[in-house]
Amino acid sequence: MSSLDHVVNIEDLRRMARRRLPRVLFDYIDGGAGDDAGVRRNRLALDAYCLRPRYLVDVSERSLATTLWQTRYAAPFGIAPVGLVGLFRSKGELLLAQAAREAGVPFVLSGASIATIEDVARAAPGYAWYQLYPAREARISLDMLRRASQAGIDVLVLTVDLPVPARRERDIRNGFDFAIRMSPSLLLDGLSHPGWALEYVARGGLPAFGNWAPYAAAGASAREVAEFFVSHSYATQTWGDVEVYRRAWPGKFVLKGIQDRDDARRAAELGVDGLIVSNHGGRQLDCLPASVDVLPAIRAAVGDRLVVMVDGGIRSGSDVAIALSLGADFVFAGRAPTYGVAGAGLAGAARALAILRDGLDAAMGQLGVRSIDGLRPELIERPRAAATA
Ligand SMILES: Cc1cc2nc3c(=O)[nH]c(=O)nc-3n(C[C@H](O)[C@H](O)[C@H](O)COP(=O)(O)O)c2cc1C
Repeated sequence: MSSLDHVVNIEDLRRMARRRLPRVLFDYIDGGAGDDAGVRRNRLALDAYCLRPRYLVDVSERSLATTLWQTRYAAPFGIAPVGLVGLFRSKGELLLAQAAREAGVPFVLSGASIATIEDVARAAPGYAWYQLYPAREARISLDMLRRASQAGIDVLVLTVDLPVPARRERDIRNGFDFAIRMSPSLLLDGLSHPGWALEYVARGGLPAFGNWAPYAAAGASAREVAEFFVSHSYATQTWGDVEVYRRAWPGKFVLKGIQDRDDARRAAELGVDGLIVSNHGGRQLDCLPASVDVLPAIRAAVGDRLVVMVDGGIRSGSDVAIALSLGADFVFAGRAPTYGVAGAGLAGAARALAILRDGLDAAMGQLGVRSIDGLRPELIERPRAAATA
């Protein structure tokens, strides 16, 4: 019996990740801003929607495939950018990229990754997207765009929802730091999670932020690269920067973190190709609305001018069906595949994607829907109590 035989849902993978990772890392993945209210709200919002089934329809043939900008994907969801995955699991981003390629769905490499743009692009040709965290020096950001484009990446995601650091209570309590330092409590945490700790030691301790290393001082240690990354984080970003990156990027250009209708319209006017409606998985501010709750208004504001995508709280195929029915063209999951890869490596990442795919397929069959474009707002049945929330 393999260790994944008992894994039926994302919560099973979450438990595996919690068992394997030191608490400081598990809490960093699992938690959110404040006391996690935004994380809970994303889930509560999805739980409040129901979908109305239509029976007596021939659903013997179903297709989950969908096309974004002339690229065909096997399913209407992908892996959202998540920082530090290579610290949770050796080569973590490469494993996620491989799982995405094998599942035929996109993987968005985080701007705070351990793996490099070039390695990920090689691991998942045609499926790797790149998420930029701009540096304080434009030359660094523009060089990252050049590298991504040269590596054959077609889609750039600019994340806009980090103007200032978030206040995450679990991370504050745990003393989380990008440049992790060995303290007595971390040592104890590591010793009680030997699977992770042995791998950490075997590969030489703290891994470096691969994409930032070339810009740090020559010969900088992983800790110094992390400090360099932190010194460039939360660079001021304005609509002027969006115009600069739009001009500099030859491929499709996506803004991630948009929650406001006027911001969405403005993005469309500036030649942005797509939006990811997102509250960063509840990680930036605890009092933001659930992303699926603002999705219909954003869709209405931009119509078909932009590809509208969404993330936040996706843990099942039914969640994907709800998000698509609410008006999204595409959906991303962050924690679900991250729990998978952290807890069980490539097989765990693949299992997370299979859980979403199989659940969506089952939901479509039950709803009387044969293809993704059949998931439409008419299917949404929202309980009255939740509708006033
Ligand atoms: C541990 C962690 C790290 C993240 N790092 C990034 C990041 O580097 N860049 C980014 O744009 N979003 C980042 N996000 C946000 C995700 O891209 C995504 O918006 C969010 O995870 C979606 O919510 P979900 O986790 O409930 O699916 C991160 C999320 C988590 C959980």
